[in-house]
Amino acid sequence: MATNWTPDSWQTREARHLPGYDDAAALEQVQQTLRRFPPLVFAGEARALKADLAEVAHGRGFLLQGGDCAESFAEFHPDNIRDTFRVLLQMAVALTFASKQPVVKVGRMAGQFAKPRSAPTESQGGVELPSYLGDIVNGIEFEPAARRHDPERMLRAYSQAAATLNLLRAFAGGGYANLRQVHRWTLEHIARSPWAARFAETADRIGEALDFMAACGVDPETVPQLQGTSFYTSHEALLLQYEQALTRQDSLTGDWYDCSAHMLWIGDRTRFEGSAHVEFLRGVGNPLGMKCGPSLQPDALLRLLDTLNPAREAGRMTLITRFGHDKVEAGLPPLVRAVQREGHPVVWSCDPMHGNVVKSESGFKTRPFDRILAEVRGFFAVHRAEGTHAGGIHVEMTGQDVTECVGGAVAITDEALADRYHTHCDPRLNAAQSLELAFLIAEMLNLEAGERDRRAA
Ligand code: PEP
Ligand code: CO
Repeated sequence: MATNWTPDSWQTREARHLPGYDDAAALEQVQQTLRRFPPLVFAGEARALKADLAEVAHGRGFLLQGGDCAESFAEFHPDNIRDTFRVLLQMAVALTFASKQPVVKVGRMAGQFAKPRSAPTESQGGVELPSYLGDIVNGIEFEPAARRHDPERMLRAYSQAAATLNLLRAFAGGGYANLRQVHRWTLEHIARSPWAARFAETADRIGEALDFMAACGVDPETVPQLQGTSFYTSHEALLLQYEQALTRQDSLTGDWYDCSAHMLWIGDRTRFEGSAHVEFLRGVGNPLGMKCGPSLQPDALLRLLDTLNPAREAGRMTLITRFGHDKVEAGLPPLVRAVQREGHPVVWSCDPMHGNVVKSESGFKTRPFDRILAEVRGFFAVHRAEGTHAGGIHVEMTGQDVTECVGGAVAITDEALADRYHTHCDPRLNAAQSLELAFLIAEMLNLEAGERDRRAA
């Protein structure tokens, strides 16, 4: 257990990107209500995820983390939850097959509401209002009433997170995640893709593997595990007023857990030394992520790892690197070497989204698919050269057919961005682009698995 830590010790540290609630009594009322609500996850589940991630840290698995940049009240719908879950499962099957390793599935879902923004205010037509900080804090509409920081929104976010998690648990355990069915969806999807020929071979090989297993008596009818899967939730632990209220002491171990999600991460803008966010997360037992961007120096990273994981427990820390397609090959190796030298057991995961945002000519914030892919390739190349395990990817995606990132097989153009640009924050990969990315990563993992087999032979 962390020393000199309490669920509110973060309040004595420098807290950036937190809302300023003008009604302290209303805030206290909401926090009191949240403290009485049931935890959304149980500490034992967070420990199970940590154990899965420990395997990844040791090179025996792959982490797939994905979902919305910002969940919203407006997009809350069972079909949206179902479709994002389904695409994540389809991606996981392709990645499992290619890597020949278990894939740990973690949604940016059921709690990913709060957003750090580059400026505290936004101006439009000479009017200045507080920036939108995510639906858990204020509304996206550019109106004074909507932009007010309203603590009551935390209760609605909690209820949406609870309902989302409930449906995810039902899907994961109730037969929807049946491996055969997931593969059928992938085949249907690929048949419609302009890159069908490229992906057909992998898809056919997965189908053959399933047929072979079925002939041996291993299929979802006979082996119940193939009807379900484990699925975890995660979000950026940004809104500490909310996270603190959902932090509970585990009755089995006496340790503290942030029970708003299985895994929490610290954003690139709140991982500075002395930060309130680092202080809060060092005391909870959940597996943690930390975003690592170009401004992070190796010695600062090591100090942060010592603070967040002094016992050097494998599975505790996932380093989510987000350099940008043109910076990853120079920026990542110094971090990898420092962490290797000090013997910190971490999962290295690649976020190819946040370093690759560009403004399109049509004025939309977008991410070119080619750059996303280039960063993933760079990430794999660095880990191959350093002899470390490229352990996962972290993507902003949705199961919907949105037009937010340019490129991909159907080649979404600049002009098409206006058609279905629905995100409340950053541009997401749509269902087709997500699956395409998974198949392209599968090709890279296939190479890795081949090399591993050759070394073992
Ligand atoms: C995010 O993941 O949505 C995010 C804000 O990322 P980062 O902290 O890496 O900028
Ligand atoms: Co984002």
